[in-house]
Amino acid sequence: MNDAKEEIKSRLAIEDVVGEYIELKRAGRNFKGRSPWGVDKTPSFIVSPEKGIWHDFSAGKGGDVFSFIMEVDGITFREALEKLAAKAGVTLEKYKGGDSKVAKKKARAREALELATKYYQLCLTKNRPVLDYVFYKRNLNKKTVKNFRIGYSPKEGYALKKVLKKRGYTEDELEVAGLLNQYGGDLFRGRMMVPFINTDGTVIGYTARVLNGGEPKYLNTPETLLFNKSRFIFGLYQAKEAIRKTNYVVIVEGNMDVISSHQAGVSQAVATSGTAMTEQHLKILSHLTEDVRLAYDGDDAGIRATERAINLAGNLGINLSVISDYHGAKDPDELIQKSADLWKKAVESPKPAVDWLLDKYEERLNLNSANGKKEYSDVAIRLISYLKDPVVVKHYEQLVAKRLDVSVEDLRNKKLPSGPAHRLKPISKNGYEVGHAKVLEDSLLSIMLFGGDAGAGIDLEIPEDETRLDELSLIFETKFKNFSKKELKDATAEMLKKYHKARNQEKIAELSKEAEKYEDDEEKFNDIMREIERLQKG
Ligand code: CTP
Ligand code: MN
Repeated sequence: MNDAKEEIKSRLAIEDVVGEYIELKRAGRNFKGRSPWGVDKTPSFIVSPEKGIWHDFSAGKGGDVFSFIMEVDGITFREALEKLAAKAGVTLEKYKGGDSKVAKKKARAREALELATKYYQLCLTKNRPVLDYVFYKRNLNKKTVKNFRIGYSPKEGYALKKVLKKRGYTEDELEVAGLLNQYGGDLFRGRMMVPFINTDGTVIGYTARVLNGGEPKYLNTPETLLFNKSRFIFGLYQAKEAIRKTNYVVIVEGNMDVISSHQAGVSQAVATSGTAMTEQHLKILSHLTEDVRLAYDGDDAGIRATERAINLAGNLGINLSVISDYHGAKDPDELIQKSADLWKKAVESPKPAVDWLLDKYEERLNLNSANGKKEYSDVAIRLISYLKDPVVVKHYEQLVAKRLDVSVEDLRNKKLPSGPAHRLKPISKNGYEVGHAKVLEDSLLSIMLFGGDAGAGIDLEIPEDETRLDELSLIFETKFKNFSKKELKDATAEMLKKYHKARNQEKIAELSKEAEKYEDDEEKFNDIMREIERLQKG
């Protein structure tokens, strides 16, 4: 695969690839532009065509053309490789021979899953009761069943295994694919099979539903080489086009809600399969649209999930809203069974997530009592602390103050002295921004490697990776090349001091986060606070 990597690098000019994301201007031997992460005030993004690398001074990241695409698109190395290979006109097949063992294992697992899916699809057509369940009980039509490749796993303990063994797959290979149970038999038996289809259209696992009661209701493929539940988004393969067209995505809770929604004509629906939403899920979606609509329950779990999502969304420039009017139905699927039109309308009139949450808090608390006001302000302030945009922050501060019948100043004053958790927040959030130490570390490393005597007092671990070394040499050239010996020595001393301080601050920030978890465990909490105080004294 290294050969493929080199071939792609030699065919693509890094400045062209980067230039599709940000505007670059020539600056001597290099190119300069604004950080794609929007953290710089003056252009701080540098590309070196000669070295084939980039470095972002404001975000403190850098690397080669692959790492750029991985970072900016939020995708894996493999995905970046495929994307750039297509761009460079390089056929990855040719390089298969040099593939790692892992890549071969993955390829075999994919083939096994493709066969399994076809087998399950065939089994569905031969089983009357299951056809009844799928077509009459769940009301799915032929097109939907085909589109989502729904099938049925027979009840016998080794039905699939037998078929795949005949086709030359070993026990190990089926294990890697996640198709076997702990006894070496079929994992999925007597269930409606819904494949997990990757965005490239390949099957990487299943969610399997019991037909007539039984536990668990859904059985999912375990984490495998192919299936990673914190990244996988159910339905995205089928939803991608609609998301691009309408420029929004609807996240529902259940996989069957996704399928029903697509059938009802809302094909922008996706779900995180049997797991809470992660930052990776949101990051992947944020590249398709910034308008993310959550169709979660209004129960405690739904409220917590929405709070979490708001916290995650802030960093990604996502605009979150909530679809909540199910007209008494328990989930989107049930609503759609009643009326597809009501679902379509609900999807088109979401409520901003923060407003929705504030309304929920208000519903649950008595804002006429002192205690109710205190609790409301606690949760509201926490919620507002997740928001990034100052104008938006102000808007909600005013709204919350008004609901509490206090002034915005009263509200802001409450932020600092109200209990340890709140006092700690500003440190972890605004203290030294993460990456500060990293930026200094980059500079110091570059001086240590390329700055001659000035680097003598720096004791950092030297990286071995060649791209990283190239990057450090670029950093040195851009930042310190014109320094006199004395200037470089002084700058180094200054940066070393700042570096140690920044590292300290980062440790404090980590500890404050840790402390929040132990709000109820006084002993632990105090231990951590003492450690923080020690660090603060330096
Ligand atoms: N889930 C799971 N394992 C379970 C139960 C639920 O992984 N034992 C996940 C599934 O992804 C499911 C989602 O949680 O889609 C929502 O669960 P639930 O509301 O119980 O199911 P529904 O989606 O309503 O499924 P159905 O309509 O088939 O009853
Ligand atoms: Mn349901």
